[in-house]
Amino acid sequence: MNILIIGSGGREYTFAWKIAQSFHCDQLYIAPGNAGTELIGENVDLAVDDFEGIGQFVIDNDVELVVVGPEDPLVKGIRDYFEADETLIKIALVGPDKIGAQLEGSKDFSKVFMEKHGVPTAKSRTFTADSIEDGLVYLQECNLPIVLKADGLAAGKGVVIAKTLEEAQRTLKAMLLDKQFGEASNKVLIEEFLDGIELSVFVLTDGENYVILPEAKDYKRIGDNDTGPNTGGMGAVSPVKFATKVFMERVESEVVKPTITGLQNDKIDYKGFIFIGLMNVDGAPFVIEYNVRMGDPETQVVLPRIKNDLVELLVKAADGKLKDYQLEVSPNFATTVVLVSGGYPGSYEKNKSIQGLADVTNALVVHAGTRQEDYEVLTNGGRVLAITGMGDSLEKALEVSYHGVKNIRWDDMYYRKDIGKDILRLQLD
Ligand code: AMP
Ligand code: GLY
Repeated sequence: MNILIIGSGGREYTFAWKIAQSFHCDQLYIAPGNAGTELIGENVDLAVDDFEGIGQFVIDNDVELVVVGPEDPLVKGIRDYFEADETLIKIALVGPDKIGAQLEGSKDFSKVFMEKHGVPTAKSRTFTADSIEDGLVYLQECNLPIVLKADGLAAGKGVVIAKTLEEAQRTLKAMLLDKQFGEASNKVLIEEFLDGIELSVFVLTDGENYVILPEAKDYKRIGDNDTGPNTGGMGAVSPVKFATKVFMERVESEVVKPTITGLQNDKIDYKGFIFIGLMNVDGAPFVIEYNVRMGDPETQVVLPRIKNDLVELLVKAADGKLKDYQLEVSPNFATTVVLVSGGYPGSYEKNKSIQGLADVTNALVVHAGTRQEDYEVLTNGGRVLAITGMGDSLEKALEVSYHGVKNIRWDDMYYRKDIGKDILRLQLD
């Protein structure tokens, strides 16, 4: 079958890499893609939210499966667009509709959902510009640190962990009155701080049945030892030592099952990925957030560990046929190290020539912010490449990743040197 992947980052490259291995894949298209996806399939010059263009392309090219990478088109309603068209409604599309996508698009919506369906999460209250005085008073009663969250999508920047009352009150005013994040901060959640270790859990559901994919740990801060500002993600590892069998059983019974049942009870027809950002607080799982897509860079370590044919899995999810699906996961470790442009996550330059790509032999070179010009591959974003290594131990996988990194260079390239090191140090009882 012909398949279209929507998006242009490392996550979408990894989907393309895995989907291209399937017997079911004939033509593979990526819209808009990057310099790397062009070598696996065919890039299509369409924006991720150009639904009309995407719909027409799907019809013209006999595409039978559409995989939506980023949240933006989902929150804007790409599924709803397909379902409203008598030809496109027959296409298998992986991703929820506009209402389901609110689990990521609105933190207030997802908090109400969790509370209603008994999913463990941090205690929280929501305020608007009209109730800001109550919010400022409420902050005085809260323990510190305290977490403030803009309700809507804010490109990963809408969360502030305030250490003092003064900082918390200033942040609340900036978000609600100065509209720091535009419409995204029309509502602000004031949320209890959870002290624990974070874990990314991925579920693929057909609305009724589900498969839990390999878990991962993401490294969000720009600097070694988790210092500096938050980024989209600087590296990831899978499996994760502290995600023990006992903990994952709790995650399934306390988080995954009530989430899927909650979707059904609320009549949300959800066919797609749910990425659950969890905090492990003394062995108990608490949900920090839902995302309605796979993680980036987590996908770069999750998909390489899945042995099944990914196209079969995705089509079953889109067709409501996941019942009794057996996922086969490699016991090997996967690690990825993200190479970024100097200055990221602040301002950075583009169009630097990348050298050494062909010299990486053992690792998977995942393209993210790259573009091809004549015979050169140029940087075209903050996160430029991710280097995924595999091995029968975490140490070996990291060795493969970092060995690959050593081959690559461009002016201003930066990466974290400590991916996975915290887990290597971690002693479990
Ligand atoms: P989010 O955008 O919801 O993923 O939040 C960004 C980051 O802020 C998370 O990955 C956590 O590291 C941190 N965070 C969010 N909510 C909390 C919380 N309630 N307690 C502690 N840390 C949090
Ligand atoms: N790596 C976190 C995310 O994809 O949101």
